[in-house]
This record gives sequence, structure tokens and C-alpha cells, in this order.
Amino acid sequence: MKTSGVLKQTVTTVELVDVEKRYGKSVMALRGVSAVVRSGVATGIVGESGSGKSTLGRMIVGLSTPTSGSVLVDGNDLGELLSWRTRRAEYLRTVQLVAQDTTNTFDPRHKVRDSIRRPAQILRGLDRPAADAEVEEITAELGIDPELVDRYPGQLSGGQRQRLSIARALIVKPKLLVCDEAVSALDISAQAVVLNLLKRYVTVHSLGMVFISHGLPATAFITEELLVMKSGRLVDAGRTAEVLRHPQHPYTQQLVDSYRRIDSLAG
Ligand SMILES: Nc1ncnc2c1ncn2[C@@H]1O[C@H](COP(=O)(O)OP(=O)(O)OP(=O)(O)O)[C@@H](O)[C@H]1O
Ligand SMILES: [Mg+2]
Repeated sequence: MKTSGVLKQTVTTVELVDVEKRYGKSVMALRGVSAVVRSGVATGIVGESGSGKSTLGRMIVGLSTPTSGSVLVDGNDLGELLSWRTRRAEYLRTVQLVAQDTTNTFDPRHKVRDSIRRPAQILRGLDRPAADAEVEEITAELGIDPELVDRYPGQLSGGQRQRLSIARALIVKPKLLVCDEAVSALDISAQAVVLNLLKRYVTVHSLGMVFISHGLPATAFITEELLVMKSGRLVDAGRTAEVLRHPQHPYTQQLVDSYRRIDSLAG
């Protein structure tokens, strides 16, 4: 197994403590959210549109700061950690976000291959041949047509860009990965390839993963823990199987029922 270029910082837990996020005067995107995500565990976040899922995901990777409450990384305040330049750089390279909107993920002036290779060179210190080899490896694992990496981002479909964004995040070998609707534009068979690979990273490489999705079946397949959001609040949380079997909140109940109905129609 290769050990070169593996990031040194560990992220064993990220804990949100009574977090609130306000945008302007009127929007409360998060209200009193407390939750923990752990390495080696996939945690799902589901909830209706506008319930605060992306805000929560961005907060975990340090791209959004709480208006009140705190985010603790292995017990250390993330706000404080980000105020130290070197630690900020280290944290931001240890965690990766596959953004919901991948339009700006790749620099339009460069071929996608360059944009995937560079983080491996810069953040893990790999030389170019080694980084190129890893680009081949990770794109093959994700079932990406090799020809696509030689295109410019503007020449890709949303689903192609999504899969390439996952490749770009995984090549960094992050300790924590937040996938925000990262498979939503993929067909079922492409989803299966990506989900199985992500699952492998969680179990084999102890990756901590936050999987944000509208799709309950994909989330149920890939996660062990589940957070259910509604109007900025966390309304249900626990082991995924348990939350789905015994939903506590009426919204979760409704969510589970609607998927059961779709399931029975499909079946
Ligand atoms: N930069 C911003 N400025 C102002 N309001 C924002 C901003 N980003 C998000 N919001 C608001 O915060 C709330 C939560 O948004 P968020 O994007 O976290 O929801 P979401 O659950 O990810 O929704 P979706 O499922 O549609 O992606 C929404 O009311 C949204 O309009
Ligand atoms: Mg979102």
C-alpha cells in the first residue's frame, strides 16, 4: 500500500454544538443544531429543500462560520483553528467538499486532467508522473470515460462534472469528505459505482463522510448514521436503520412513507 503523500492531520470527530446560522436579518438557516460526524463512518443528511443541509455541510468543512454555537474538531474550536494560517491551510486540505453546484469546481481555462492532478501535487507533494498515475487510477475506479479528462469543464455535462468533482476530492486522500448531492445527476448504474467506491473509502481508509442527499434510498444504502433536517432544525438523528424503522418526527415519518410508496409502485 502506498503511504507517500498522505496528509498528517487527523480528523477523528467534528462536533457541532448548538449551532445557529443566520443570513442577513430574516433567514435562520440553522437553529440549535448539535451533531457529531466521525472518521470511518458515513453520516447522511436528508431534509426538504432549504432546510439547511448545504449550510451544515459547508460549516463542517470550514467554509461557513456559525453565527452562534461552535464547531469542534477533535475537541478544538474550528473558528480558532482557522484563525491560524498554517492550521487553516492544513484543515482545508484535510477536508474536501464535493459541492452541490459543480459549475465553478473546475477552472475553465484548464483541462480537467490538470485540475484533478494539481491538488495531488500541491497538497500531497506527489511528482507529476505519480499524480498522473493517480488521476488514471481514481477516474477508472469511478467508471469515468478516460477521454473526459482531456476536455475543458465547459465541454462536460452536469453528471460528468459531478463524477470528476468526486475524483478531484478523493485524489487528495482527505480525512473527511462532504458530498453535497454528489450523485444526484447520475443514472442508477453510475450511482452504484460511485456509492460502492465511497463506501470502500469509508470502511477501508477510515474516511469520515457526510452524504447530503434528497434521495433516501441512496442515503440509506451508504450511511450508518442519519441526520434529518427541517426548517434549519435537526428533527431526527441516530443509526440510519433505526431512524428509518422508528422515525420520531412526523416529517421523518412522512419522508419514509413517501419512499415506501414509491418503492411499492416501482416494485
Ligand atoms: N448565502 C446565502 N445568503 C442568504 N441566504 C442563504 C444563503 N445560503 C443559503 N441561504 C438560505 O438558507 C437556507 C438554507 O439553505 P441551504 O442551501 O443550506 O438549504 P438546503 O437544505 O441545502 O437546500 P437544497 O436541498 O435546495 O439544496 C435557505 O432558506 C436559503 O435560502
Ligand atoms: Mg443544498
